[in-house]
Amino acid sequence: MNNGLDDVVAAETVLSDVDGAAGRLVIRGYALDELVPGWSFEAATALLLGDLLPADGLERRLGAARVEVFGQVQALDAELAARPPLEALRALTARLADGEDAETALRLLAAPAVFTAAIVRARRGLAPIAPDPTLGHAADALRMMKGAATAAEAEALDAYLVTVCEHGLNASTFAARVVASTRAGYASAVVAGISALKGPLHGGAPGPVIEMLDGVGTPANARPWLEAALDRGDRLMGFGHRIYRVRDPRADALKGVVRRLTGEGDAAQGRLIFAEAVEQAALAVLRERKPNRALDTNVEFYTALLLEALDFPPDAFTCVFAMGRTAGWLAHAREQVAGGRIVRPQSRYIGPAPRQAA
Ligand code: ACO
Repeated sequence: MNNGLDDVVAAETVLSDVDGAAGRLVIRGYALDELVPGWSFEAATALLLGDLLPADGLERRLGAARVEVFGQVQALDAELAARPPLEALRALTARLADGEDAETALRLLAAPAVFTAAIVRARRGLAPIAPDPTLGHAADALRMMKGAATAAEAEALDAYLVTVCEHGLNASTFAARVVASTRAGYASAVVAGISALKGPLHGGAPGPVIEMLDGVGTPANARPWLEAALDRGDRLMGFGHRIYRVRDPRADALKGVVRRLTGEGDAAQGRLIFAEAVEQAALAVLRERKPNRALDTNVEFYTALLLEALDFPPDAFTCVFAMGRTAGWLAHAREQVAGGRIVRPQSRYIGPAPRQAA
């Protein structure tokens, strides 16, 4: 029995190669540092889904899909808005029609941007802002959330969405592929992906990274705070990875994006310098406490810093992750439908031996 399916190869893919020993991520033939900074979310989506959604006209089609999805925002009632944002996003996404066609895929790509912005605003007591279909996806996602966004902020969100759009057979992508393998449809596969992403061991980590930074408070308090957390048996959020045995290349890609976004001496730059100090303390403490494990910084640590700098509230960070990763989930769902069989592994029975009913 392989608890956690380490090293089990359950799919062949043309979508990405995650080299855990070298700390290298290749997305459909491009190393991450060729894509970030520079590529837009639309360009990365076409790279992954080009046979279904070619690059030509995709920005316009995705804009139109945001407008269509905005028609569903009224389903966000007070009760749903009071739930954790990812649960509200999951519920709203689950209302979208299922299918295995381009229109379904476009709605699913548009949905996290439209719904996340509406959810964040509803939780702030504000009415939703309608999409502007003439804008790029990242620029409009920010505008719908906070009313206006600078070009630098839109570029930073594009860089984030591209960084997280695809990453091998991680838990949420595997979940999406399992559901797609039953031919349930892309919406069902994406809802499965969102559900798996929610957990703090996967996409739910960056919100708790902010809690950690706020709990630490000052650089001098980093070591005692982190040691106390490990003494309680807590895991340090933003560190460790199943595949990477060295630093997650996405961590430095995102750190570079945060650095470009901050200005000399501003609050965001101060926050970055503090976070770097906490990161160094965490790496030192993890090396001492877990000498036999290669635990390094993962994507979630600098995700937290970047999304905070873009004014997303920490409890909605995972929704923004879903905004990027939906492209990967859909590409994997397509690959599974095209070439895979229904996913059906086995369990070994360790319950009581057969017995007579009383
Ligand atoms: N803090 C403290 N200890 C850790 C951490 C951590 N962040 N990560 C792993 N460990 C320890 C485990 O406690 C375990 O110790 P033990 O052998 O003494 O019991 C050992 O390292 C091995 O850990 P595993 O659970 O085997 O590692 P696994 O591959 O199963 O888990 C995971 C990977 C879930 C990412 C883990 O490192 C973790 O929980 N990290 C914190 C949460 C996090 O940052 N998640 C985001 C990951 S990136 C993403 O999914 C997008």
